[in-house]
Amino acid sequence: MYKISKVLVKDLIHINILEKQLKLNTTKLDFFNQTLLNQNFEFIKLVLENQIIGFLYFSWNKSDCDIISIGIVEAFQKMGFGKKLIEYLINLNFKNIYVEVSANNKNAIIFYQKLNFSRIGIRNKYYKKSNSDAILLRLLK
Ligand SMILES: CC(C)(COP(=O)(O)OP(=O)(O)OC[C@H]1O[C@@H](n2cnc3c(N)ncnc32)[C@H](O)[C@@H]1OP(=O)(O)O)[C@@H](O)C(=O)NCCC(=O)NCCS
Repeated sequence: MYKISKVLVKDLIHINILEKQLKLNTTKLDFFNQTLLNQNFEFIKLVLENQIIGFLYFSWNKSDCDIISIGIVEAFQKMGFGKKLIEYLINLNFKNIYVEVSANNKNAIIFYQKLNFSRIGIRNKYYKKSNSDAILLRLLK
C-alpha cells in the first residue's frame, strides 16, 4: 500500500536522485529549507514499501495552485501513481490548478491531458536551454 506525506529534509537526497534520473531541475537544500518556512509551498512524496517512488511540489496563492514539479520513478511509471499525486492535490479544493510544461515533454502533456488539464496558453521559447516553448495547462472542473 502506498502513502502520501510531506517531504522531510532527510528525504531530499532521495528526491534529488530521482530528479536527476528524470532529468528535472534538482531542488537545492537552501531552497527546500526556505519552502518549509513558507506556507505557500508544499512538497509531498509517495512512498511504496518504504521507498520514495514519487514526489509532487506545488505552490499556491489564495485559491490558485501551481504545480512546480512532479516525478515518478521510471520503473513505476504508467501504474497510476502520478495520478494519485494529482488527485491528492485536487482534493485540496483549489479553485484553479495550473502547470507549465515544456512543449518537448510530450509524455507529461499527455499525462496532464488524461487528467483533465486543458491547454490555455503558450510562452514562446520560454525554456532558453532547450529553446522550447512552455505550454500552460489548467485543470478543468
Ligand atoms: C509525467 C509523470 C509524472 C506521469 O506519472 P505516471 O505515474 O507515469 O502517470 P499515471 O500512471 O498516473 O498516468 C495517468 C494517465 O496518464 C497516462 N500516461 C502517463 N504517462 C504516459 C505516457 N508516457 N504516454 C501515454 N500516456 C501516459 C496513463 O496512461 C494514464 O492514463 P489512464 O488514466 O487513461 O490510464 C511521469 O511520467 C514522470 O515522472 N515523468 C518524468 C518527469 C516529468 O516529465 N515531469 C513533468 C514535468 S512537471
